[in-house]
Amino acid sequence: WGKTGHRVVGEVAEMHLKRKARKMVRKILKGRSLASVSNYADDIKSDTLYRKYYPWHYVNYPADKTYVQEPPAEEGDIVQAIETCIAKLRDKNSPEEEQIFYLKMLVHFIGDLHQPLHAGWAENRGGNDIEIEWFGRESNLHRLWDSDLIDHFGMSYTELARDLPPLSKEGYKALKQGDVYSWVEESHRLATSIYGSVIPGERLGYRYKYIHWNTVERQLLKGGVRLAVVLNEIFD
Ligand code: ADE
Ligand code: ZN
Ligand code: ZN
Repeated sequence: WGKTGHRVVGEVAEMHLKRKARKMVRKILKGRSLASVSNYADDIKSDTLYRKYYPWHYVNYPADKTYVQEPPAEEGDIVQAIETCIAKLRDKNSPEEEQIFYLKMLVHFIGDLHQPLHAGWAENRGGNDIEIEWFGRESNLHRLWDSDLIDHFGMSYTELARDLPPLSKEGYKALKQGDVYSWVEESHRLATSIYGSVIPGERLGYRYKYIHWNTVERQLLKGGVRLAVVLNEIFD
């Protein structure tokens, strides 16, 4: 996601934290909110010192495969990234600086994993190589889903987070069942359908937004609730 998407995920998670986790998060982040640190991983992305974290934002694999059918990427990927962050936060011996770093990274990567094109196909780099027009401006399929769709609403992240259509009780329960392996397959399936939703070079606007906005909302909500579930578990 872009800045707003990540902040929405952080804000939704904040709304679902239990008392203990909220206290720990406040302590680690020195009073800051999850939303406020949610874009840190993108801020350091172009810094040569942090180059090794670049592949941690996504994973690509073929349409007809599952994540576990492919050999794990040596340089890491978003699934390995999330597992590393969780392990570092669970480890009571992690130094304070690492707890801060990996919590900020976790907030970002659980967000990114819910942007379907962060679990796409290598041949078009998660849609980055599929050019489209968005309301008359050049863009690409990846950017469309990262930020163009969300920014077109012109709403703040707090407004977006508050207005997301809530899930049913069963819906929330179901969100507690899965793990990072089911999340990545869910995104990958959505990515496959998103690739089929455009013709390269197509001029997109209201119609596209009307059809796909509920998927964006649902993914932002799921990302936030699942982040809260993970944090509640780590800091129980
Ligand atoms: N770079 C290469 N593949 C990517 C993807 N799926 N998402 C974001 N950036 C990428
Ligand atoms: Zn992206
Ligand atoms: Zn990212």
